[in-house]
Amino acid sequence: MLRTHYCGELRPAHAGQEVALAGWVRTVRDHGGLLFLDLRDRSGVVQVVFHPGRGEEADLFRQAQELRAEYVVLVRGKVSMRPPGRANPALPSGEVEVIPSYLEVLAPSLVPPFEVDGRAEPDESLRLRYRYLDLRRPVMLERLGFRHRAVKAVRDFLDSRGFWEVETPALTRSTPEGARDYLVPSRVQPGHFYALPQSPQLFKQLLMVAGVDRYFQIARCFRDEDLRADRQPEFTQIDLEMAFVDEEDVLTVMEEMLGHVFRTCLGVELELPFPRLSWDEAMDRFGTDKPDLRLPWEIRDLSDLAARTEFRIFRDALAEGGTVRGLRLPGIALTRREIDALTAEIASLGGRGLAWLAWEDGGQVRGSVARFLGGDAPAWRERLAAGPGDTVLISAGPLQVVRRVLGFLRTRVAEEKEAVREPGWRFLWVVGFPLLEWNEEEGRWQAEHHPFTSPLEEHLPLLETDPGKVRARCYDLVLNGEELGSGSIRIHRRDLQERVFRAIGITPEEARERFGFLLEAFAYGAPPHGGFALGLDRLLMLMVGAPSMRDVIAFPKTARAACLLTGAPAPVSPAQLAELHLRLAIPSTRGH
Ligand code: AMO
Repeated sequence: MLRTHYCGELRPAHAGQEVALAGWVRTVRDHGGLLFLDLRDRSGVVQVVFHPGRGEEADLFRQAQELRAEYVVLVRGKVSMRPPGRANPALPSGEVEVIPSYLEVLAPSLVPPFEVDGRAEPDESLRLRYRYLDLRRPVMLERLGFRHRAVKAVRDFLDSRGFWEVETPALTRSTPEGARDYLVPSRVQPGHFYALPQSPQLFKQLLMVAGVDRYFQIARCFRDEDLRADRQPEFTQIDLEMAFVDEEDVLTVMEEMLGHVFRTCLGVELELPFPRLSWDEAMDRFGTDKPDLRLPWEIRDLSDLAARTEFRIFRDALAEGGTVRGLRLPGIALTRREIDALTAEIASLGGRGLAWLAWEDGGQVRGSVARFLGGDAPAWRERLAAGPGDTVLISAGPLQVVRRVLGFLRTRVAEEKEAVREPGWRFLWVVGFPLLEWNEEEGRWQAEHHPFTSPLEEHLPLLETDPGKVRARCYDLVLNGEELGSGSIRIHRRDLQERVFRAIGITPEEARERFGFLLEAFAYGAPPHGGFALGLDRLLMLMVGAPSMRDVIAFPKTARAACLLTGAPAPVSPAQLAELHLRLAIPSTRGH
């Protein structure tokens, strides 16, 4: 072994020991004739002190003067207590230093494009271009280490609960998560393509038919979709599936797994079980299916009160079967200009205006619809639990639009006004989503989750008569306003699966063509089953408090789905295209 210890682990107990250390030069500083080398490896930093002296000491000193940032060096020497008053409490190894007897440069380094250990956060495109230097930064190495420990905790927990880890193919057929597929052309079968899996959904269901009983996988998923800070084209799921279970079993396993991971990795004891809201209640109270419960602002239905006013917009909305609802912003005053700006923003969500009310210290109400309240003003105030200094934003229109608008305003105003959020980890289950949603553009019903999700048994008769009313046996997990994962109890009967396909306009021929292998498997004895997939990258991003999902992925892609380090995606040679039986419909490009 080149070394005997890690730099960051040296402590007073090591004083007097001969050690060998290897790592990167963080800094070399000349202090009054002494040279201080900060040597860094994965574990941290230790100080090595070179004295000018004579003979060998002087040679070492001259050698050390040649060192530059990020050189890789080997140091042998003796651990010594730092002189009184010279300890560095900011450094775990700060009470000791190393007096060297040997120094060797194992590899020099060019001047790095950014300071690896600097205080300032380097520009992100530089970080991605030189990812190996970016990862060398202590904050990034810590995140990688955290990811390793979290995944290990997940594996340990699931193993203890009887789950088997099974790998499923990356070269497969299109899966039904609803994003665009990444395709891989087949060389041996001209004109045929593999799809990279958007999730292992179908394979994990087949594993249940196979009798695996409890499956999990740290699974890589691929989706060609519009990217944001919380999305990557390839990402990782903690994917699992269980046979002979109902909702409670799946939810309990997930809660206990997260309890274990938070305890092991953060020392945090989560409060179990997590609260649950039905989808309808979440939409009514928060205007979203992933509410951030750290923000206590809620939406109230004002329809009955609005019906008693003479305000035409309210009355028209109600007459058309719509609703009137308000969002109280406690202690937040908005200027006319701010309200106008918000009104403009909600236009893209279908909101056709915004009414508002505010209460003065004396209790008087003012605002765009204040004069319509008349004698009902106290009833409005009571319904909204509004007090002096509060503003209430009111939206009228179709239920869906009003929910969307107020849900949007809830987060928008909170961000803008930097509203105080209660601290902590606010997990929430949202259950009972609609099975189907109406696709306005295509004029048809589509699966809200995916088409293998089981409807509620008692809603089955509605499937053909009133599909929008059917609720699904599915559940989403939300943490602090982020969707962490989702899952469901699946359909395991072929007849029901075919009925759901029919409801979303998949013909029997199409169903056979795309998912025939699954339907066939269901004909050979499929156990009732259900499962879940948790977005690992999103979970880790929240756990380490990173601003972006990219910070918890070793080699992530940009918003344009590019890898700045390797230059992927890249053009390929005409020979490769020919071999794959492909011809480009665009002029060939070099670089970008
Ligand atoms: P779903 O599509 O909801 O469900 O995905 C589950 C979770 O995966 C994460 N996720 C992503 N993370 C990063 N980048 C992305 N582009 C991305 N897309 C999704 C989210 C999400 O909640 N097969 C079903 C699960 C099941 O029914 O068992 C599925 O994939 O955190």
